[in-house]
Amino acid sequence: MKNLTQKKDDSRSFTPYVAVVGLGYVGLPLAIALSKFHKVIGLDTDENRVKELTNGFDRTGEFISSEITNMELRLTSKPYDICLSKIFIIAVPTPVDKDNKPDLSSLRSASETVGTQMRKGSIIVYESTVWPGVTEDICAPILQETSGLKAGVDFFLGYSPERVNPGDKEHTIDKITKIVSAQTPEICNTLSKLYGQITKSKIHVSPNIRTAEAAKVIENAQRDINIAFINEIAQICQKLEISVYEVLEAAETKWNFLKFKPGLVGGHCIGVDPYYLAYRARELGYDPSVLLTGRKINDGMGKYISDQILHLLEPESNILILGLTFKEDVSDLRNSQVEDIIKYLESSGHTVSVSDPHASQEEAMELYGIKLNNKINEDDKFDCVLCCVGHSEYRKMNGKSIAGLLKKRGLLADIKGIWRNIRLDESYRRWTL
Ligand SMILES: NC(=O)c1ccc[n+]([C@@H]2O[C@H](COP(=O)([O-])OP(=O)(O)OC[C@H]3O[C@@H](n4cnc5c(N)ncnc54)[C@H](O)[C@@H]3O)[C@@H](O)[C@H]2O)c1
Repeated sequence: MKNLTQKKDDSRSFTPYVAVVGLGYVGLPLAIALSKFHKVIGLDTDENRVKELTNGFDRTGEFISSEITNMELRLTSKPYDICLSKIFIIAVPTPVDKDNKPDLSSLRSASETVGTQMRKGSIIVYESTVWPGVTEDICAPILQETSGLKAGVDFFLGYSPERVNPGDKEHTIDKITKIVSAQTPEICNTLSKLYGQITKSKIHVSPNIRTAEAAKVIENAQRDINIAFINEIAQICQKLEISVYEVLEAAETKWNFLKFKPGLVGGHCIGVDPYYLAYRARELGYDPSVLLTGRKINDGMGKYISDQILHLLEPESNILILGLTFKEDVSDLRNSQVEDIIKYLESSGHTVSVSDPHASQEEAMELYGIKLNNKINEDDKFDCVLCCVGHSEYRKMNGKSIAGLLKKRGLLADIKGIWRNIRLDESYRRWTL
């Protein structure tokens, strides 16, 4: 792997590059996969990310060093380095702001960057998750303005949503059915061939860009709503004093019962994308009540769980929280709902210590101001151990190792139900979602 800012491309042959703009969870696997078949250049505005990748370090934990450095992939943080490309694939973040309004700033700036570097005949494909219409109504005008070229005449748009799932080693980019859409059948054909090279699975061609945009956003909205339903059931089960996990175990024996688990919904996708669809629905005069109710229930889980635990704590307890990332066995800390729980517990006068073997110390500090405590002394004992994320390290713990963390009559709280079957001396108190 080469960094263009360190070593200029001296070949300058006429075979155009495929440029991947944004080298995060989505862009990096794509750039690596495409580099087996094409000359690929990856652009990221984060110079540190480019430096780390050039040195074979992927902070997302998706690739080991050799998987990155063995690739003929060029990396840069300088926009002009992508000017020798014909196909530009944009995979930049599409988050929401503090009021849950879509924030398209990265998408707009990446479109400006590509607009200034593209030429006649270019194909610009978006992979970022958006609401139906963003590619053609928001990105195309930016590309036109910055390039002086006309969409659908001088250059062509495509949209191909990404489905990779952080930490998922089974549904990798080479096995996922890829949805492809474009402004014309010819461009759709070109893109189907391109993506067909990197997946052994199918290419699904959508009739138009808006349909492909809608397909992606509803995939995640559907998950969000299903989890919200189970989170509601979990709260009803608490009142009924029965275990939601035992209820699910029984219900899941039916062939068509959908298998979702209760818990915190964070991350960059499921907790965010429904707001994109809801935003557009409202613009069109439709009240997306199911979408927003699902969001409300899931966004409220941190407070609900904190309230349950607060009832069981003595004043000024010291609490050990296990897990900060947004889901198990990943390093991704974005939109971690564990932060909500920490805030509620601390504001109620308790002392909270947070541990996570997968999270980066620097990122935890940068995003949440949290100093991770990953070296717990044998003598450290807590009034409460609260497991928020089902990391495999925690799943492997046994009664002895868990009891070793607790004071006498301490409380073991388990959001993910991973320790339900662990036997523990009855002097300890237990709470499971
Ligand atoms: N993470 C996932 O598993 C996943 C899955 C499917 C779809 N998506 C969607 O894909 C998109 C990208 O998500 P991600 O998780 O890869 O994000 P990410 O934050 O991991 O990576 C995005 C990268 O883009 C870079 N970037 C930001 N603005 C840029 C710009 N103007 N020019 C060049 N680089 C820029 C950032 O520095 C970052 O490295 C989002 O729309 C997301 O919703 C994500």
